[in-house]
Amino acid sequence: MALLKWDNNYSVSIDVIDAHHKKIIELLNILHDAILQKTEHEIMEKILEDLTACVEQNFPEEEELLRTAGYPHLEEHMESHRILAEGVWALLARYQEGEDLTYDVMNFLTSWITEHIMQEDKRYESFLQKTSPQPLVSSAG
Ligand SMILES: [Fe+2]
Repeated sequence: MALLKWDNNYSVSIDVIDAHHKKIIELLNILHDAILQKTEHEIMEKILEDLTACVEQNFPEEEELLRTAGYPHLEEHMESHRILAEGVWALLARYQEGEDLTYDVMNFLTSWITEHIMQEDKRYESFLQKTSPQPLVSSAG
């Protein structure tokens, strides 16, 4: 059973970014299910790989979108991405040392969703809606 279900409260009204954010919620749900089934150690490497991909591909895409739109808080936002990326590299390093990261990764994903997606990403939503020439309203789902 999913721990967290996507709804429009998470949406920033841009489909491509919402797709990135759905992936983070999916990772939290996958890890939560694995903990219940006691298979978390089997999937940890894949979770960390997917998190690495989010940082390396999704952050630059989001930043490019904000840069193109002339978002005034871009530097601040990039700094927040940099801190999250460092968090992922630190988890990876500890994983390679053989540490059990289950609950640290759960906490990391939870604060990524509640502090970054729901607060910092939400902050650019209305700015992008005002500046974008094309309709950005995403279909629910
Ligand atoms: Fe962001």
